[in-house]
Amino acid sequence: MTHSLPLSPMRAHQSRGLQGRFHLPGDKSVSHRSLMFGAMALGETRITGLLESGDIMSTADAMRAYGATITRNDDGSWSVTGCGVGGFSEPDNVIDFGNAGTGVRLVMGLAAGYDFASTFVGDASLSKRPMGRVLNPLRDMGVQVLGRSGDRLPLTLQGPQTLAPITYRVPVASAQVKSAVLLAGLHAPGITSVIEPVMTRDHTEKMLQGFGADLSVETDQDGVRTISLQGHPTLKACSIAVPGDPSSAAFALVAALIVPGSEIVIENLLLNPTRTGLIDTLIEMGGDIRIENERLEGGETVGDIRVKSSDLKGVTVPADRAPSMIDEYPVLAIAAAFAEGETRMDGLEELRVKESDRLSAVAAGLAVNGVDHEEGPASLVVRGTGHPPAGGGTVETHLDHRIAMSFLTMGLASKEPVTVDDAAIIATSFPSFKPTMERLGAEFSEGATQ
Ligand code: S3P
Repeated sequence: MTHSLPLSPMRAHQSRGLQGRFHLPGDKSVSHRSLMFGAMALGETRITGLLESGDIMSTADAMRAYGATITRNDDGSWSVTGCGVGGFSEPDNVIDFGNAGTGVRLVMGLAAGYDFASTFVGDASLSKRPMGRVLNPLRDMGVQVLGRSGDRLPLTLQGPQTLAPITYRVPVASAQVKSAVLLAGLHAPGITSVIEPVMTRDHTEKMLQGFGADLSVETDQDGVRTISLQGHPTLKACSIAVPGDPSSAAFALVAALIVPGSEIVIENLLLNPTRTGLIDTLIEMGGDIRIENERLEGGETVGDIRVKSSDLKGVTVPADRAPSMIDEYPVLAIAAAFAEGETRMDGLEELRVKESDRLSAVAAGLAVNGVDHEEGPASLVVRGTGHPPAGGGTVETHLDHRIAMSFLTMGLASKEPVTVDDAAIIATSFPSFKPTMERLGAEFSEGATQ
């Protein structure tokens, strides 16, 4: 498991202007769901552009453990031959999700539909993360949960003979919770409904419809969404082209803004509006960001993004934007450190329960690199001077890929290099981060010194 590997430090150095036109690996959220939904469909689902990262390979292994056949084809596409809804068989062993919160939480929803035991484990980071948010609605549906107090991994779930459909109002803005309930609902007779007061990424809804589920969404005048799903559908295999991951693009995007003399184009990015909060915010900060070639592919908005280095200014980021950029706050804090004036981010309570406590990990990283900031219980204020921050610090990544990539991004333009104590964890979401950034002109060195 990831936590037993030795740390692998990496350092980022001030770089000359980044240049290039490139594609990024597939979106992580869509990749997880492609494998899971393919595993529940009848027939062969063909996936192009699947993200081949640690988190996604954990989901592939989990789906194999339940009986799906998943193979990588010679042309780089993936084939999933599914078992049908209700067709999974009992895994022979525990299921290890490594670092992957989305993987384990969504698969808990699937496991709920089966009257056999599924045992889930994860790495040191995942074993600290709260699972009650998913387990509580699943318990309401009749699932038995065995495990340590506080609903942390390792955990064993066993579904009832017949799962009860529920109507569930999601108490936190979480696409993972919404998705887990809907995936359980596929296995319950009748209609399962999820009420979502604040909209989160809607890949589960859209993709389940694409696989043929009977799912409808109603939005009231206050923006509250009710998603209703008919249980026991027959899902049909389909073809999926996974667009580039906007959450991985975020690092190249911010790097191009802060490294003087940069101009890059990132092609074929997923631009679903539930994922583009960072782009909106960086544009408000004065970032020269243009979306080109915007189009609809497989029901999703995709496009190319052109970014040029820019003088940024501080802004206040509205709290209600958080769900559309929840994974991007660490790298926004880096952009804010180079901006002139104060950037205020509110509504960040969910950052405390990500792969690390991201709010305190970001604050600690800013502190060791000489950036004026203030950490609140659910807020962060970063005060930039409009000049590159000092840098020179070593940042603790706490098994968090996005903390590692964010501070490596900082080091590309800070006065002194920035070191992260572990870059190996980056492979959970973006294994090609280093070569991709190096091709653009980014300078990194490996090891604790130079
Ligand atoms: C994800 C949802 C988000 C996000 C995570 C991926 C998903 O988590 O942070 O990286 O694919 O559903 P929450 O829904 O818990 O906020």
